[in-house]
Order: sequence, then structure tokens, then C-alpha cells
Amino acid sequence: MNQMNLIKKLPKAELHLHIEGTFEPELMFEIASRNNVAIRFKSIEEIKEAYNFHNLQSFLDIYYEGAKVLIHERDFYDLTMAYLKRCHEDHVVHTEIFFDPQTHTERGIRFETVFKGIHGALNDAQKKWGITSHMIMCFLRHLSEEEAFKTLEQSLPFKKDIIAVGLDSSEVGHPPRKFQRVFEAAMKEGYLTVAHAGEEGEPAYIWEALDLLKVKRIDHGVRSLEDEKLTERLILEKMPLTVCPLSNLKLCVVKKLADHNLKKMLELGVKVTINSDDPAYFGGYMNENFIQTAEALKLSDQELKIIAQNSFEASFISDELKQKWIKEIKAL
Ligand code: ADE
Ligand code: ZN
Repeated sequence: MNQMNLIKKLPKAELHLHIEGTFEPELMFEIASRNNVAIRFKSIEEIKEAYNFHNLQSFLDIYYEGAKVLIHERDFYDLTMAYLKRCHEDHVVHTEIFFDPQTHTERGIRFETVFKGIHGALNDAQKKWGITSHMIMCFLRHLSEEEAFKTLEQSLPFKKDIIAVGLDSSEVGHPPRKFQRVFEAAMKEGYLTVAHAGEEGEPAYIWEALDLLKVKRIDHGVRSLEDEKLTERLILEKMPLTVCPLSNLKLCVVKKLADHNLKKMLELGVKVTINSDDPAYFGGYMNENFIQTAEALKLSDQELKIIAQNSFEASFISDELKQKWIKEIKAL
């Protein structure tokens, strides 16, 4: 089997995906038009030209702007369903998606509207394609602790369908410790925890995410290797990293994909996974991330299988389901 076919056939779990980051320009125009919301771009081509980022913040500014056209439950449903169709095409059989309630509640959209739209699509995709999923609610770290607490409160009526809380948005200057108390309160409510750390931020942020936020996974974590002690700990604790190669390329975390340290981490025994982060903005969904990374880093078939296996081991599904998918991977 050639590698492209192997990638297509591998069952995969996606563990780092912002639903607002799957907003394709075509759908953005369609929803903007039906909601009568003006957007500053005149054409799909103009939008795509604007997707030239030089760091995380330059992307976030555009990402938050795009999300402004989402108003009704149906909008969140359509956005999520379009992503799940891509999962089906890429043989992503399980996905744990981030959503950013504050991006919407700040504009007067109800938490319930956001939740129901996304959750409805996840349910329908399970019926239609058998895709299993979890929802992870992220706090925007550029906003205050108080606002995060407010969001946590709003989530409580829906907590049985939200597996974890996470932390995203502008990393540098907003260390994990800013949200220690919110995460403690979330854990008391039964939420698991994850956090973006070490995307642009220094390794100290990864230590904080582990020690203060008690995370089960580090989102990104590509700066881990700068700290030998941290690397040792990640290996020892089998701490998963949800790495997003095309995102790192587009946001200039690496100059070219061949410079990415994913293979190095894999060789050291770090539990890395491949994910698409914000695929509508970064030029590729799951398989595209696998294909381009495999090519740039000359990953072997065995390494690709380990990455797919890691994605299930690092997921929040049952042990039985993990074993079922791992068996399928090993049989390929
Ligand atoms: N929100 C959406 N994508 C993100 C990323 N890559 N880092 C931080 N916050 C984000
Ligand atoms: Zn992310």
C-alpha cells in the first residue's frame, strides 16, 4: 500500500480542532448573507488572500471576525456538520472538538444556542456516519478570570455533554496560572482539563499547565524540547501532545515543515498526535496534515501507525473503543 492510501485507510481521532476554525469562506458568505451581516471581504478570493498570517495574533484577529456571522442555532449546526462531513471523508472516526463560547456570548448570543447547534450536529453525524465525539469548552485566555468563571457557570446545565475544559487564544502574556482557580472549580464539577501551551509560549507555560491546571493533554507543546527536564517528564508520564503541523507552518512557528520537531519527539518517545487545529484557515484537514508531514519529515508507515494509535490512546473514549480502533490500525 502506498503511504497516501495508508493515511486514508488509517482510522484516526482528532483531538485538537476549533470548530470556529473550520469556517470555510464559502459557508461564511452563505451564512452572512442569510443573516444579513456585513463582512468586510467582497469575495471568497479576497478572504483567502487575507489568510497570510505572521503569528498567532494575526490569525486570531481574522478568526474572531469571521465567527461574528454565526448567530442562530442552525448556523452552528451547519458549521459543525460541514466539518463532520470532512471527518467522514478523511476517516476521522472520533473527534474531540473545542468550542469558544465567549466568542459568541460576548456578542449577545446565548450559550445554549451555541451548544445546541454544535451538539445537534455531533449527534446526527454519529447516526449518519458512526463518528463518535466529545465537546471541550475553551476559555479565551486574553479575557479575565472573572469572565471565565461566568462561562463555567453558564456551561453547568450542559455539563453532562461537555467532557473537558480547555484554554486557547493569545498565549504569550496569559500564562496558565491566570486560570488555576477556574480550572480547579471546573474539575470540582467533573470536567477533565486540557490547555494550549508551548505553541508560542515558553516551556514554563507547559509546566504550569501540568502542575496547576492538571491537564490530561498539552495542546501544541512544540516548544517542549527546549527543556530537557520537561521532555523527560512528558515521556515518563506518557503525556499526549496534540500537535498541529500545518497550523505551526501557517503561524510561522516553523519556517518550513521539514524543520518541524514532530519526528524528533516521536523518536524520543513523546506521545504525539497529528491534528488540524483550524483547517479552514491553515490549508488542510486531517489527512492533508498527515500527508504533508509524512512527506516533509519522511515518516515511516510504522510511525504513521503509532501517531494514529496515539490519537486513540490520548482520547477520552472508553478502553474498549480504544482497543477496537488500535486493533484495526495494527491490521493495516
Ligand atoms: N484558537 C484557535 N486556534 C488557536 C490556536 N492555534 N492557538 C490558540 N488559540 C486558538
Ligand atoms: Zn488550537
